[in-house]
Parts: sequence; C-alpha cells; structure tokens
Amino acid sequence: MSNRKILITTALPYANADLHLGHMLEHIQADIWSRFQKMRGHDCIHICGDDAHGTAITLSADKQKITPEKLIESIHVKRLEEFKAFNIFFDQYHSTHSAENKTLVSDIYCQLKKTGYILSRTITQAYDPVKKMFLADRYIKGVCPKCSAKDQYGDNCEVCGATYDAFELKQAYSTLSGEKPIAKKSKHLFFKLSAFQAFLNQWTQLDEIIPSAIQNKLKELLEKGLKDWDISRDAPYFGFEIPEEIQKYFYVWLDAPVGYMAAFKAFCHKNNRPDFDDYWQANSAYELHHFIGKDIVNFHCLFWPAILHALNYRKPSRIHVHGYLTFNAEKMSKSRGTLISVQTYIKYLKPEYLRYYIATKLAPGIQDYDLNTQDFMQRINSDLVGKLVNIASRCAKFMSTHLNHHLKNQIEPIDFLSTIQAGEATIAAYYEQGHYSKAMRLIMTWADQVNEWIDHKKPWVIAKQTADSTNNQLHHICFIGLNAFRLLVLYMKPTLPELALRVEDFLCIPPLQWQDAQQLLLNHDIKPFEPLMQRITTDQIENLLLESTLNTTQQETIDVTITENTETIVNEIDFSYFSKMDLRVGQVIQCEVVPDSDKLLRFEIDLGESKSRIIFSGLKQYYHPADLINTWVIVVANLKPRKMRFGTSEGMILSAGEDQPTLLSLPDGLKPGMRIE
Ligand code: 2FM
Ligand code: ZN
Repeated sequence: MSNRKILITTALPYANADLHLGHMLEHIQADIWSRFQKMRGHDCIHICGDDAHGTAITLSADKQKITPEKLIESIHVKRLEEFKAFNIFFDQYHSTHSAENKTLVSDIYCQLKKTGYILSRTITQAYDPVKKMFLADRYIKGVCPKCSAKDQYGDNCEVCGATYDAFELKQAYSTLSGEKPIAKKSKHLFFKLSAFQAFLNQWTQLDEIIPSAIQNKLKELLEKGLKDWDISRDAPYFGFEIPEEIQKYFYVWLDAPVGYMAAFKAFCHKNNRPDFDDYWQANSAYELHHFIGKDIVNFHCLFWPAILHALNYRKPSRIHVHGYLTFNAEKMSKSRGTLISVQTYIKYLKPEYLRYYIATKLAPGIQDYDLNTQDFMQRINSDLVGKLVNIASRCAKFMSTHLNHHLKNQIEPIDFLSTIQAGEATIAAYYEQGHYSKAMRLIMTWADQVNEWIDHKKPWVIAKQTADSTNNQLHHICFIGLNAFRLLVLYMKPTLPELALRVEDFLCIPPLQWQDAQQLLLNHDIKPFEPLMQRITTDQIENLLLESTLNTTQQETIDVTITENTETIVNEIDFSYFSKMDLRVGQVIQCEVVPDSDKLLRFEIDLGESKSRIIFSGLKQYYHPADLINTWVIVVANLKPRKMRFGTSEGMILSAGEDQPTLLSLPDGLKPGMRIE
C-alpha cells in the first residue's frame, strides 16, 4: 500500500452558537474517514477551526455585552471539550481570527489584485440609519411585493417563493433597529468569478471530485452564467481590513476557506513540518478533501476552486457533500425542540452511540438522514451490545472459568473466520467511498454469524461436562469467537475508537492498525472481562427529549415588538387552536437554582390557585434567583406536567430572545391567575 498524503477539512462552524447534532453528523463523518486513513498508515491530517468573522458574530457578542474577541475565545474553549467528548480528533483546531489567516487572506487578495482579478464597483445597498450599518438581506424584513405576506426577508418570500431586491419589499424594516432602511452607495470589491466560467464548467463535472447530484445542480447554475463575487464589507464589521482600502473588510466567506490553509499552516508550524508551500502547488502530490453540507456547495465548488485556480494553486481532490440530519423525521429547529445541542446530548448519552448510529446511516450522496430515537436505541442495544460486545462477554466467561485467560496456538480452520479476515478489503473500500452504512451492515452480519455459531456449539453445555476434551472444545470456541471479535472491532475502530481502546486493553494488544487484520491472536494471555458497553434505557432517551424541549421553549423568541427571530414563523394556526392555550399571570413566590443542572431554575409560582405551582425554567445563566422573587411572569398554565430529573414541571414561563432570554414583564395592577388573551 503506497503512503498517501491527505489533508481533510470539516466546515468551520460559526463561532456564535452552540454545536448541535447536525454539526456532529459532518464531524463524525470526517473523523471516521480520517481515523480510517490513519489506521491504514497514510500521512493524514485532519483540520478544522472556528469561523469567527461576520455580522452574526458581532450581533451575538453585542447581545451578551462582550466583545467579539471574547465571544470567539470562550466558544473555542468550549468546542475543544465537545469535540474531545465525541472523540473527534483534529490535528489542528484553529480559528479564522488568527495571525496566519490574516496574512494568508491579505497575501491572496494582493495576488488576485495584481493579476487583475479584483474589480471595484460602487453599489447601492440598504442601510440602517440607527445602527449606522449596511444590512444584509437577512436583517431586513417587510411585506412581500408579490403576495403581501408579512415579515418576509429581504431577498425572498417564504410564502410564495418570489425572489426580489430588498428595496422592493413593502413596509421594510431593519430587524436590528426596527427602522426603515435607506439606500446608500458604497464602493465594493469584487472577485472576477466570471473569468473562471470555462474552468468551472469543466472542473465541476469531474466525477471523482464532486458527487453527481451536486454536479447537476452546479451545471444548471453555471448555465445561467457566473456573476462577479462581492468580497468586501463596510465597517462596522468583525473581520480583517482589506489592504490599501479605508474601512473595508474581507467578507467572512472569503477568509473562511482561507482558514483551512491557516489551520494547516499552524499545524505545520507546530509540528515542524516543511510541507506547507509544496502542498498548494498546482501539481501537489497531496490530496485535499473537504467535508461539507449541501448548503455550502457554491462556496466550495465554485468560489474557492476559482480562487485557487487564479493563484495557480492546487484544487480540492474530492468534496464530500452530505445531506442534513433530521430528528424524529422533523427538520432540526430550535423552536420545535428538535435541535439537540451537543451539551444536552452528552449529559444523557454516550457519544459513541451517536458515532455508530450516524455510521449506520451514511452513504455517498446528499440525501438527508433521520435520527429516530426509537431506532437509535434499538440499533445500539441490538447491534453493539446484543451482537458485537456479546461475542466477547460470552467467550470471556469460559476464558475465566476453564482456560486461565490464555489463548493457545492451535486452530482448526473455520470458514467464517477466514471470510471475516478476507473481508478487510471490502470494508476498507466502503470506508474509502464514504459508504459507512454498508461497512456497518457487513460487520453486523459477521457478528450475527459468530453468535449463531457459538449458539450452535453450546459452550454452556460443554462447560458442564468433565470430559478430557472439555477444555479443548471450549478453547476452540473461544479462540474462534475472540479472534472474530478482534477483527470486527478492528474494522469498527474508525467509527468506535473508544470501544476499540477498551478492547485493546481487554485483549492486551497494542493499538490495532488496519494491517493487523492479516494476523490472528495466537498464544496470548488476555485480561478478565469487564463490561465494554451499556444498553441505552428509555429513561435516557426521554430525559434527552425533555431537556431539549425545555431548552427550546425557554429560549424561543416570541415576537413582541421588534423581532430578532431568525427562525421562520411556524405554520399558521386558527383561533380555536390558539384559544386552547391557557396563558396566566403568575407571581414568583420562590425561586432557587437547581444544584445539579447548568441551566435550570426552580420557580414556585402563584397562579391564584389553592396551591402554588412548581416550574423549572432554563434561565439559570441569565438571572439571579433572588432578583426574580415577587416579579410577575406569564405562564402557560395548561401545559401537560413534565416529569424531569429534578421533579415535575407544572407549566412554562414565557421569555423572549434566543441567546439571552428575557422574562416578559407585565404592567402593575394585575392579579395572580388572570387569563391573558
Ligand atoms: O456554513 C457554515 O457554517 C460556515 N461557517 C462554514 C465555513 S466552511 C469554510 F469555508 F470555512
Ligand atoms: Zn410572497
């Protein structure tokens, strides 16, 4: 096997929000691929980092009353821990707000300018006169010029599908200040993307680089003709200033992919590797693999390769595009309680369960994948615990009682053991193609065969006999069983590195490499067995669902005056539906922190009933309990009580604001229990 040199990137997550399971789909996918390549002995480097620039970062920081620098710093630290918990290993986790990136993006821009690929044009844009800043379309809302639907964004209507210019919106307002945007001129810098039409027409249709479904989409887009790409933003903007310009900043999407280079540069520096320059040569022997979601294809398949081509640099070797993760068949959405944060998941379930479940789903292509909690629980319990780990625990028993934990040399050939051994190349091909679901299925088919074979041999009956051959017969079964188990765990190692570590310890073997599939475990002592994996319980799943719903509902934006709502308004309901919701005025009698919870406060609330209500609310990070005693709140009084780890919550308190929830205040003169209509 020749030694390949591979650089893997995962899309840099924005540094202004919590990571959720949707992010983990991609990180798990890329991490499995990277671990697989490393096990094969290739020189493989996996990098990522925070995407730290842009207006959204500034707005989040403003909301939290901290600087963008402080925000991205704290998120960086938190993320390193989250990735570690999920066994996502990065050779370098960097940031686009780094010295390396600043130098690289400025150098690249200067080269592009020198070669005539930067144009300057004056454009007219919407401007918020209160916030004193230009507004991207997503910060403008108004009435659709075509169908008159309210609260539509500045570029398209989600009701009738019309696309338009922000100035065509009726009653337009800035979502940042509520003010009517004005038109203002400004000089912008453009990358001359149109000059790369011929190159992209050809490059995007190369089968080995871009998945076919994406090729088709790109073809349609290219047929319409490419427009030049606006790469500058006016101050105020959190980003890097453009050289030789005044108060102009690089657009976040220009310095984001350059951030891949920056992370690699930092890696080379840290590890004393001289490869950085060689790597970007047009004829580089290295491979470059990007893992991305289908929403950011244009940036990676058009803009980024065009820039690399303009610089006469190498282009990506393969762009691994994936679909989205849905949760119980629903789109992941904060307001629907289907956006499970990594933090919440870790509280209740082991990351390796998700790694396996995602692997059982992944295939090349851009289809979406559903995380169905029932199926999830069943897959883990039946496949990993019931099939895979079960092989080891069944054999280990006799290794202790009869065989002194020793595997001898002898072996009679057994068909399925050689089949599993020879299957190495098939499993490797599945991993290489990103067809992890096929790999998982084949591994589980073998696990089934091993279990059936052990059932057929009935070692528990043999163990009760006292014949001379008893130990030899048991040894034969354990030898086959444990050797098969070792091979299956080896094939599973890119997906379940933590399980592999526990098995390596149990079997007293050095870290498994791919080529170890060629050998069997002979003449070898192993350790006494300890449980390798636990079943998932219904309680774990229910607690995860409950906490996610709670996080969601507590943080959901309620449009009162000016909306900061980044979610689409959920489907319309009629009045009879709304009137089913019983909103009441409540007075906080008692409020205290819940000691074992990062998020929850425990409220005792007077709703004018004979007994006060206990309500748990995710506001711990935002309020001191003492400040809330005697305040008035709005309570959803007829919400079905929810059993939680800390007690039962008998309603819900309303707040507004996604990142920094604020309890909705009420005027004086109200009484507990008054209905809000
Ligand atoms: O879509 C996103 O989440 C972007 N932050 C991804 C950037 S990927 C790369 F170009 F840096
Ligand atoms: Zn419309």
